Amino acid sequence: MTLISQRKRNTKENKKRGISTMALATVWTYCVPLTVILTAACLLNTAHCQAVQAENVEVLEGGTAHISCRLQDYDGSIVVIQNPRRQTLFFNGTRALKDDRFQMVLFTPRLVRIALTNVSVSDEGGYFCQLYTDSTHHQVATLSVNVPPEMPTVEPKQEVVEGGDAELTCVSPRSKPAATLRWVRNGREIQGVVSQQENGKTFSVSSTIRIPVERKDNGAALSCEALHPALNGQKKIRHYRLDVNFAPTVRIVPPSGILREGDSLSLTCSITGNPLPRSIQWSRINDSLPERAEISGPTLQISRLSQSHNGTYLCQAQNNFGRAADHYTLLVYENVSVTTMAPPTTHPITSRPTTSILPSPSFAPGPRDPGAVVETHSAVPYAVIGGVLALLVFTVICVLIVTIWCSVRQKGSYLTHEASGLDEHGEVQEAFLNGNDASQGKKEYLL
Ligand SMILES: *[C@@H]1O[C@H](CO)[C@@H](O)[C@H](O)[C@H]1NC(C)=O
Ligand SMILES: *[C@@H]1O[C@H](CO)[C@@H](O)[C@H](O)[C@H]1NC(C)=O
Ligand SMILES: *[C@@H]1O[C@H](CO)[C@@H](O)[C@H](O)[C@H]1NC(C)=O
Ligand SMILES: *[C@@H]1O[C@H](CO)[C@@H](O)[C@H](O)[C@H]1NC(C)=O
Repeated sequence: MTLISQRKRNTKENKKRGISTMALATVWTYCVPLTVILTAACLLNTAHCQAVQAENVEVLEGGTAHISCRLQDYDGSIVVIQNPRRQTLFFNGTRALKDDRFQMVLFTPRLVRIALTNVSVSDEGGYFCQLYTDSTHHQVATLSVNVPPEMPTVEPKQEVVEGGDAELTCVSPRSKPAATLRWVRNGREIQGVVSQQENGKTFSVSSTIRIPVERKDNGAALSCEALHPALNGQKKIRHYRLDVNFAPTVRIVPPSGILREGDSLSLTCSITGNPLPRSIQWSRINDSLPERAEISGPTLQISRLSQSHNGTYLCQAQNNFGRAADHYTLLVYENVSVTTMAPPTTHPITSRPTTSILPSPSFAPGPRDPGAVVETHSAVPYAVIGGVLALLVFTVICVLIVTIWCSVRQKGSYLTHEASGLDEHGEVQEAFLNGNDASQGKKEYLL
């Protein structure tokens, strides 16, 4: 019984001892190293922090960088500032390196500050603030220089011709960090092929787009935007207008109405094309241009037209991408109708001795002019026939009235004559009622 109980106690004691050893091991393996690390870190940290503290600086190229070293409990020890190449810039406030861009701005027991003007990317790196106490402490202030992009440039790869593709490259030659380029047309982005090249510390970026172009795209606006963190949300935007080459088009604006002898002709040739054809060629098909023709740019003028000017006139233009022509057929009509219709005072040909309303064969020799034909053959004969008809009808009415009046007055005394009188009367009445027939007959007779 006692043996058993002793064993039990032993096992109990063993158990107790095991637990305490485990706890100890745990503490030893975790807490102690942690404490040591923390203490060491704290010691190191406080040692450094308290002695000197440097701040990182970011500046734009060409700007001024302020590099500051904060001191704690400064005891008059020597402060040395070195550039990234470990050359001493200032030795306890005194310039050591001969570079006027560095200036000592401030030297107090709490703060040492130097300024670097006209910063370039080669100035980048760690600047050392060193405090020579019994043990040397130093901190590094990292200077980084940003280079915002200049206005990008846009260049077409080759001549842009209608029906082809325009290949445009936008280039931002220098930036740091690399700029982002964006192509935009009508407010929508066009995806470009971007390539980046590193030149020392800066980047050259380009973005190339390829777009199909038609004639209507000539002059279309595009833009290339350069985005960069140093631009503070602003963009450098290069505007570009598509220059699409195309063959010329030519159109002659014809004069309105019929041209007659003595009129002047003015033909204007309206041309398009890119590039706009520099010269326009006027010619007459199968003939030379009339002597009187005057050409000034797109306009051909012929004063005092004559029928010898009849012909087909051609306007031609060309550029490197093609040529085009338009033609106009000139027919000069005789000025006959103008002579007959216009009053003599305003007519240009007033030297004619007589002007008659009636056409005479010698004066109007049956021209082929349709307008003149209608006027000479219809207007004047109808007027004559109308007049004659009116006279005839008037005469008939008069005869009728006189006859009736006579018959009424003579009714009593000449009763025997009544039959013959009625006969006469009826004949006249018939003529009066069938006026058209009568007039036709009269017309035939008159003509
Ligand atoms: C370093 O310069 C500071 C400030 O001008 C001065 O107080 C200090 O005595 C100088 N220390 C030495 C060792 O010359
Ligand atoms: C700034 O530095 C650049 C070269 O890094 C130089 O070309 C330029 O003239 C300097 N500008 C000034 C104002 O000193
Ligand atoms: C020009 O002359 C040729 C040959 O004589 C002829 O075939 C052609 O029809 C003429 N063209 C015009 C517009 O008169
Ligand atoms: C010119 O054209 C008009 C109208 O067709 C015609 O009457 C005339 O005979 C033509 N003259 C010549 C010289 O061809």
